[in-house]
Amino acid sequence: MTSHVHDTAQWLIRAIRSTLQANNAGEDGVDEALVRLAQQDTSAAALTPPSPRRLPACRFLPDVVASTLLVAPDVAAALAAVEEDLHWAQNPNYSNEAMGQPHYMDNYAYAEVIGPNGAYAGDDFLLGLFLLGPGLNYPNHSHPAPELYWILSGASDWRVRDEEFSPREPGETIWHEPYVPHATNVGLQPMLAAYMWTKDVKQRALLV
Ligand SMILES: [Fe+2]
Repeated sequence: MTSHVHDTAQWLIRAIRSTLQANNAGEDGVDEALVRLAQQDTSAAALTPPSPRRLPACRFLPDVVASTLLVAPDVAAALAAVEEDLHWAQNPNYSNEAMGQPHYMDNYAYAEVIGPNGAYAGDDFLLGLFLLGPGLNYPNHSHPAPELYWILSGASDWRVRDEEFSPREPGETIWHEPYVPHATNVGLQPMLAAYMWTKDVKQRALLV
């Protein structure tokens, strides 16, 4: 018998892989990220059950899971099944002061599915979920890891470097090359995105 977290994490990983493959193959970074995902050991033997942890931003989960039904129904169902088993966390480099917004930390959380705090440790690779509340501005930051975002819920504006922000909708992917500064402004609905860091994952994101 396998554990609940293994079954639901498997379901989520399979749903992300098959939906991204079907809808977004060929877009910048998507194929590279899917190759790296397929290389990860997500067997029952590799399971490292996360210590479940919730943060204030988890109050958005029912809302964003419902919205995800519109773009990726299998992912939404898997999310609903697994989210309580996940370890929701925050980047220790971030604070309300650093982000320049008084309630940032109550409106931000991420959870690894594959990674040091995820259901499987991963091999220099991260797959996770990223939550930002309505109206939040995630200022310019960068990291060595190449990064794929896949928006599941919440229209938002994205930019790299000092270019103009451009609107992105649920279902769209965004690819960031290593060390390229990027920023996100969330619209009226909370944003949920899946992300993958495909290599060089040890160094966290830093504000720039
Ligand atoms: Fe990033």
